[in-house]
Amino acid sequence: MSSPDLTELERQAVLDVVQTRHLSMGPKIKEFEVAVSGFVGSKYGIGVNSGTSGLHLCLLAAGIQPGDLVLTTSFSFISSSNVILYCGAIPIFVDVDPRTGNIDPVQLEQAAADISAGGEQARKWLPRKGAENAGELKAILSVDVFGQPADHDEINRIAKKYNLIHIEDSCEALGSTYKNKKAGTVADFGVFAFYPNKQVTTGEGGMIVTDNEEAAVYMTSLRNLGRSVGDTWLSHTHLGYNYRLNEMSAALGVAQMSRIEQLLASRAQVAKWYFERMSDIPSLSLPHITDTTSFMSWFVFVVHLNNLTERERLAEALSLVNIPVRPYFIPIHIQPYFVKLFGYIAEDFPNTLSLGQRGLALPFSGVMTEEQVDYVAQQIKQSL
Ligand SMILES: Cc1ncc(COP(=O)(O)O)c(C=O)c1O
Repeated sequence: MSSPDLTELERQAVLDVVQTRHLSMGPKIKEFEVAVSGFVGSKYGIGVNSGTSGLHLCLLAAGIQPGDLVLTTSFSFISSSNVILYCGAIPIFVDVDPRTGNIDPVQLEQAAADISAGGEQARKWLPRKGAENAGELKAILSVDVFGQPADHDEINRIAKKYNLIHIEDSCEALGSTYKNKKAGTVADFGVFAFYPNKQVTTGEGGMIVTDNEEAAVYMTSLRNLGRSVGDTWLSHTHLGYNYRLNEMSAALGVAQMSRIEQLLASRAQVAKWYFERMSDIPSLSLPHITDTTSFMSWFVFVVHLNNLTERERLAEALSLVNIPVRPYFIPIHIQPYFVKLFGYIAEDFPNTLSLGQRGLALPFSGVMTEEQVDYVAQQIKQSL
């Protein structure tokens, strides 16, 4: 499906670390934090061992407590909702814009207004079960789906109006811009992820970005088992986690960040080849880039068919010619444990369900050649 874009520079960077004695908590993590926060223009970068752990720490820094409600989207990678559950809080799903898959600000505002009003009005947004001890509405966790920023001016306006903290899951969006502002920097907190299919990889890893100094200090402590400045190795001010990013990964990240423009440009080129070859296939919708996206950093290339049957047929045909494809995303509200915990049915979020049934991610990475894109496009045309 994807392949990391690595050169001798990255290999040497990792080797250099292995030749020192600092495999963790050395100088590379700081360098990587400066590289990422400098690139996006935020005051603080906090390196962690995954995007998931980064999101978890943001929720803790936002003060999310058991029973709290967090508005978010079911059309996402599972982590963005899991971290809400890690805090004992309750994800409240809002349906998405069918063109982009990003949270729909109109419905988001309605949800915030109804939940803040309480009573019957609030109840219609709560799940059928699992919300008996529902507490206060505290935050919005938005997701920049497939690398495209959500409508953050609107989300921030709603957050301000209802006194909510806004956490941006920008795990898929490093380098994208929303109205010329870098993804990850438009909310109170942003998080990037560096799994090997991402624009920049560290093998495993993540980075929180924020301008909030107090929260940055707190999250830096939490990622290191709650040790605060001045604590010794065996004293722990807070209940923390081992969410540290190791030095080999950080060094790989520094090397990747030194050529990020190149990494983003090759992915954009592959996306362009796909567009050029597939824009004339009537039964296939190509990714929709909205006006507010001033730069698109391509994470995956997801096309949509007219319905589930057509999607399954195409997936089957492509797998027969060794082209790997994946349904993308399978909505969170229909994952078995979400159904068990909260009693959701698939139709609760119709736009999310429809995208989930029709979307197919094609092979995509910055190292794909024009011939490979050609082959995929030809096979798609033939199958359809
Ligand atoms: C939208 C989204 N959120 C969170 C994550 C979690 O990142 P990680 O896999 O590094 O934990 C990912 C990564 O795939 C993602 O795509």
